[in-house]
Amino acid sequence: MIHNFDEFIDRRGTECKKWDTYGEDVIPMWIADTDFKCPQPVVDAMIKRAEHGIYGYPINTHQFHEAIANWQRKRFGWDVDAEWVEYTPAVVPAIIFALRAFTQPGDHVVLQMPAYHPFHQIIPDNGRLIAANELQLRDGRYVIDFEDLERKLSHPRARMFLLCNPHNPVGRCFTREELLTIGNLCLKHDVLVVADEIHADIVYGQKHIPFATLSAECANNCIVCVNPSKTFNIAGVRTGAAIIPNKILRERFHESVANNKAYGRTVFGTLPVEVAYNECDYYADQLMTYLQGNLDYLLQYFAERIPAIKVIKPEATYLLWLDCRALAMPPDELQRFFLEQAKVALNEGSTFGKSGTGFMRINIACRRAVLAEALRRIEAAVNKM
Ligand SMILES: Cc1ncc(COP(=O)(O)O)c(C=O)c1O
Repeated sequence: MIHNFDEFIDRRGTECKKWDTYGEDVIPMWIADTDFKCPQPVVDAMIKRAEHGIYGYPINTHQFHEAIANWQRKRFGWDVDAEWVEYTPAVVPAIIFALRAFTQPGDHVVLQMPAYHPFHQIIPDNGRLIAANELQLRDGRYVIDFEDLERKLSHPRARMFLLCNPHNPVGRCFTREELLTIGNLCLKHDVLVVADEIHADIVYGQKHIPFATLSAECANNCIVCVNPSKTFNIAGVRTGAAIIPNKILRERFHESVANNKAYGRTVFGTLPVEVAYNECDYYADQLMTYLQGNLDYLLQYFAERIPAIKVIKPEATYLLWLDCRALAMPPDELQRFFLEQAKVALNEGSTFGKSGTGFMRINIACRRAVLAEALRRIEAAVNKM
């Protein structure tokens, strides 16, 4: 099957957060969903189910667990037992359930910064403290300060390490060596790893390593959160999963989900996940070819025509981190510059943490023609400064 990623589908007027937040004259390249139509087998399955006309309480089937395990096995070589899979309404709720199950108010959660912004809300919102391990930008690539990491992990109140791999917003796909060092430090200091691997499929010419495949000890000390939403553009169906090899952790996690009464699956949630994971490898492969094309186009465009802005070359994700510090604007002004002068809506960097000041995040999961127009607008606005 071939998917046409250049197909134009108007998302305006569909209660779409990305497109219906800003005016018609703005190109939205912020929130992390793609502009691409879902795989046709997913659309067909949803239509067929919709035509049944009755959408009462669904039963919990084993198929969902098998689909999650199946994808991990075939795409990443992780031999997941379907028994390890816990249904969750999405990844962020899964992290909240883990926080409530495995930490107490006042405990520290170690987080690599800059970080996906909801992480800095859910930790304090639940009365836990963020212990920030700042990623270090060296020669255009972010690396881990392991000394600082160990200091944070060795604090007596450190209970959880929230890993985002691949990393949003800095685009790192962490190496086996980095992950093993993290894993071993967490074991040494008895800190549980919650690994958000939602961007695992979107990797440029590298291999994503599921955290739990590092070693038997690491597998026993982690909760891996996944969601096909980024790859197949189904974030609106609000269905994800946590994969937990350790039975004791799994039971405690399950209890936390139950205590929050968050186990109710939805008719239109589990179905697209199952179809996407079981039948749509072709789509994930072709998506990566298309995104690689967008990435190459953007890298060349910035290098040749907008050298004042440096692109942090991503190893993963369709969310690119733009170093705009040479424009010398404070965050509000930078945001306004892109929105009002260039007419493109991006995410302003300081919302990912203080170290994101001077950066902007751009989502390139759009049609090539839209990307080209957005870059032309940014170039014109920078040239006018
Ligand atoms: C790293 C990361 N985790 C989680 C999410 C949100 O996932 P969910 O909608 O499954 O809660 C996103 C969305 O952008 C993300 O980038």
